[in-house]
Amino acid sequence: MKKVVLAYTGGLDTSVACAWLREHDGVDVVTLSVDVGGGSIRDGVADAALAAGASKAYVVDGRDRFVRDFVFPSLQANARYQGVYPMATALARPLIAQLLVEVAERERADAVAHGCTGKGNDQVRFDVAVRALDPKLEVIAPRRVGMGLSPDQEVTFARERGISVAGGDGSGYSIDQNLWGRSIETGVLEDPWQTPPADVYTWTVAPGASPAIPTEVIIGFSRGLPVSIDGEPVEPVELVDRLNTLGGRHGVGRIDHIEDRLVGIKSREIYEAPAAVILHTAHVALEGLTLSKEQLRFNRLVSDELAQATYDGIWFSALHRDLREYVASAQRVVNGEVRLRLDHGTVSIVGRRSDDSLYDRALATYDADDAFDHAAAVGFIRIFGLPLRTEAARHGSAWSWTRPLLSEMPVTLTDASS
Ligand code: ARG
Repeated sequence: MKKVVLAYTGGLDTSVACAWLREHDGVDVVTLSVDVGGGSIRDGVADAALAAGASKAYVVDGRDRFVRDFVFPSLQANARYQGVYPMATALARPLIAQLLVEVAERERADAVAHGCTGKGNDQVRFDVAVRALDPKLEVIAPRRVGMGLSPDQEVTFARERGISVAGGDGSGYSIDQNLWGRSIETGVLEDPWQTPPADVYTWTVAPGASPAIPTEVIIGFSRGLPVSIDGEPVEPVELVDRLNTLGGRHGVGRIDHIEDRLVGIKSREIYEAPAAVILHTAHVALEGLTLSKEQLRFNRLVSDELAQATYDGIWFSALHRDLREYVASAQRVVNGEVRLRLDHGTVSIVGRRSDDSLYDRALATYDADDAFDHAAAVGFIRIFGLPLRTEAARHGSAWSWTRPLLSEMPVTLTDASS
């Protein structure tokens, strides 16, 4: 009998897929459940797997590696898809895909399987990552091809086999979550004009219901990696968990995004990502203090490329690998602390400091101890403006294409002699 390793959360969709694979495809199903924090797998997931027909159930605590190898490199790169989505879901897929391949090799399985449908990004991420790691492995996605059950039919299918339907939480939303964020879609959210109902959110309070008094938090970074909260060193998983709790309490981290999926569909997604929003805000602020303007400009291109590659599921590509190398190297000097204020759903920077700061008060000040050479500005500007004077000499001054404005504006003239 063929053997398949199924990515399994303990929810309704993957439980039904588990039973389906065994009954309809006649395969031996081994499940793999990866805990990537944030309630990503259900309690009792191994028992649920066996109840759904699996012969073995692997449960892996992937939280530490997830944060260190996937989440934090993405934070260092300021990578957010379309500038807004911190990519909790997208970042977990390559880790889960790699573990699927490793378990498949250990179990001498012929295929891996996942519970993704044929409309989303996650199927692409799983399939592409698995094949990049082991081109011989077959990838089966019963919800994409073969199973074809509506949500109601899934519930019936599960009930008939005594599989718990608690996985369907009855919310009408499709939810994916891990410690970097919670992704919520479908149901009433499919109308982009519709205000997200309160029940969409479980990690964040409504900004209006957050504490009246704002709070401040200091995040310490070493080489662009967050290492402390309020001066106290904190390990990665705990650091993210703590900021999720703190941010959530102040209503920070809600994102409403019309997102362009890889498969060509625009979709409306709600995210809750308090820690991600706080840490991205802090990291960008510290880079502003410690990197040159040329690095900052170039890094914006890198952020976009890295975000796109992550979102598109080409984590195991040469491009993605080499961009990560660049980012890690460029983060050498991103050391220091950022102080942030959390206030009714907003997070704002109120201070930053670094031993590697490029900010020089002697140069910036308007006080008497100013060290900047004002006279040198004259020569600098003469050279800087040279191309424009050359253009004007060749093609005529800008009066050839702009127009006088003074006559179009109300002017009050006061004459000392009158
Ligand atoms: N749109 C996001 C992504 O592609 C999240 C999808 C998560 N799935 C869900 N059922 N909400 O990364």
